[in-house]
Amino acid sequence: MKTEKMKVGLIGAGSISEMHLQAYAQLEDVEVAAVCDLIQSRAEKRALEYKIPLIYTDYKELLANPSIEAVSICTWNQSHEEICLAALRAGKHVLVEKPLCKTVEEANRIAEAVRETGKTLQVGFVRRYDDNAQLVKRFIDEGEFGEIYYAKASYIRRLGNPGGWFADSRRSGGGPLIDLGVHIIDLCWYLMGCPKPVSVSGNTYRKLGNRAEIRNLSFYKAADYDPDYNDVEDMANALIRFEGGASLYVDVSFTLHAKKDEVAVKLYGEKGGVEVEPELIMVGEKHQTILNISPQTDRSTIHVPNAFLREISHFISCCKTGGNPISSVESGLTMMKILCGIYESAEKGAEIKLG
Ligand SMILES: NC(=O)c1ccc[n+]([C@@H]2O[C@H](COP(=O)([O-])OP(=O)(O)OC[C@H]3O[C@@H](n4cnc5c(N)ncnc54)[C@H](O)[C@@H]3O)[C@@H](O)[C@H]2O)c1
Repeated sequence: MKTEKMKVGLIGAGSISEMHLQAYAQLEDVEVAAVCDLIQSRAEKRALEYKIPLIYTDYKELLANPSIEAVSICTWNQSHEEICLAALRAGKHVLVEKPLCKTVEEANRIAEAVRETGKTLQVGFVRRYDDNAQLVKRFIDEGEFGEIYYAKASYIRRLGNPGGWFADSRRSGGGPLIDLGVHIIDLCWYLMGCPKPVSVSGNTYRKLGNRAEIRNLSFYKAADYDPDYNDVEDMANALIRFEGGASLYVDVSFTLHAKKDEVAVKLYGEKGGVEVEPELIMVGEKHQTILNISPQTDRSTIHVPNAFLREISHFISCCKTGGNPISSVESGLTMMKILCGIYESAEKGAEIKLG
């Protein structure tokens, strides 16, 4: 007997929508039945590429379609709250791209709507779903590294302000901290066991601008790139303190006079340490000897399409079973407290206590 496929709608048909669509296309029990973008030609392009029958330019019309059970929200950050609330209240399950939204108040309202409607909401913290992150999580949970008391994460682009909505704080909520920092802060926090953050101390800098004038080096530019518009920070750093004493140091940039781009996610425990990025490696100690251990896996580095496939298949499974997603609305809310606390700390030049 042929079972009915779950129908999903995609809202926001820009660059990251491709990762969602590629993943949905690999799942047998799901069908992307509708696509929506403010810009009709973008929705039409995706509809053609992925054989999606329904095209909308108003997300409310997509949500009014009773056959759609779930949506992927891949729009600019400033619209996440509005679309999440409307989707949940229309009875849809929601996968919303990171960050959950722009402010703690918005995040609280989304969390409230999830409680009220009982629908599934998963935040797109895609790095959690990478095979290596899940492998490390198992090792940490089994106590292989002892208590993790320090983590350090970097996401440095020497030249990589994508411009467009990314450089427009009204639509993005900020620069590299909310765009890139969210990924690596979340990954460390998740692997540390989601301890309660108690305070943050951060700095943001706007010293170099978007450096649109640089020659000979190319970088990703948003579809609405405008070299003349940029009101977000170039770089940010922060120290996050957790209940129990653990801490996380992070630095991120869109532009910086760095020798090269760098992504690093490192965790240190009482019995050992682990580097998840750029390449998986564990550090241990035996017979008074320090060992660097390379787990033998298919890939020693993150594989983004695979992480999206795992993320989206987890979302569909939670929609069907009612299970709480690994990256739940609560984790999205905590991440907003951390990110907004860092921006506030940078503005005030003081440490901020988190409630
Ligand atoms: N998980 C990741 O690794 C990752 C990577 C990139 C972006 N993202 C996130 O995905 C989201 C989109 O980023 P992007 O790079 O694809 O941007 P993008 O500009 O390429 O695409 C966004 C699309 O959303 C459309 N849109 C905006 N508001 C809308 C609305 N109200 N209704 C319908 N369509 C609307 C825009 O027209 C645009 O086509 C952001 O939240 C971003 O943080 C996540």
